[in-house]
Amino acid sequence: MQTQECIKTRRSIRKFLPVPVEFEKLGRILDAGRLAPSAGNVQNWKFIVVTDDAKKRAVVDACVEQFWIETAPVLVVVCGDPVKVERLYGDKGAFYTIQNCAAAIENMLLTAHDMSIGSCWVGAFDDVKLRAALAIPDNVVPQAVLPIGYAEEKPIEPSHLTIENVVYLERYGNRVRDIASFMDEYSVHVQKAVAKLKGFVARAIERIKK
Ligand SMILES: Cc1cc2nc3c(=O)[nH]c(=O)nc-3n(C[C@H](O)[C@H](O)[C@H](O)COP(=O)(O)O)c2cc1C
Repeated sequence: MQTQECIKTRRSIRKFLPVPVEFEKLGRILDAGRLAPSAGNVQNWKFIVVTDDAKKRAVVDACVEQFWIETAPVLVVVCGDPVKVERLYGDKGAFYTIQNCAAAIENMLLTAHDMSIGSCWVGAFDDVKLRAALAIPDNVVPQAVLPIGYAEEKPIEPSHLTIENVVYLERYGNRVRDIASFMDEYSVHVQKAVAKLKGFVARAIERIKK
């Protein structure tokens, strides 16, 4: 799947078929998390793979009544260890740990979707219960639960803010009134440059022929 198509068509999946996820595909998802960017390249994430039914139930129990999670054959719990990054960046350590894990999570969601596997970013959980369920040490912070499996639902298309609502030009709050024409103008520049290049190549070919 092309990157743009993958980004545009990914949706949160909250109902899964009772079909196991191939080990090789799960490996690819975890590897995509491993390859995410991180502050200072500290890679201070850990991914706990949960397949055991009793352990899964304990994780679901931590996820504040989101019982649908149990329908996923695999759960990946993403944890961040802020110690090393705090040593490097002081107060920014916790902030970077959240961002590093978020980058890994999005890489995993997109890679799953690329292989037609569904997932969902679950951030609503009871920290204490989740730590107890998976023996997560005190210095490590659970960041997300990712239920992973083949979808048994047609996901809801969420509403998205328009680009005018989220893009400012040059300073905070400065909306681009007609962003379509702003982007169109840009594409006109690109088209002109391509036409110029084509003309240059055509003339060069003519000269060689002569
Ligand atoms: C930080 C974060 C926490 C989230 N927590 C939950 C959650 O606990 N349960 C859930 O069902 N979805 C959760 N979501 C998924 C969002 O509801 C979902 O991404 C959003 O509605 C947009 O839908 P889409 O993912 O299909 O584009 C979370 C997403 C993010 C980024």
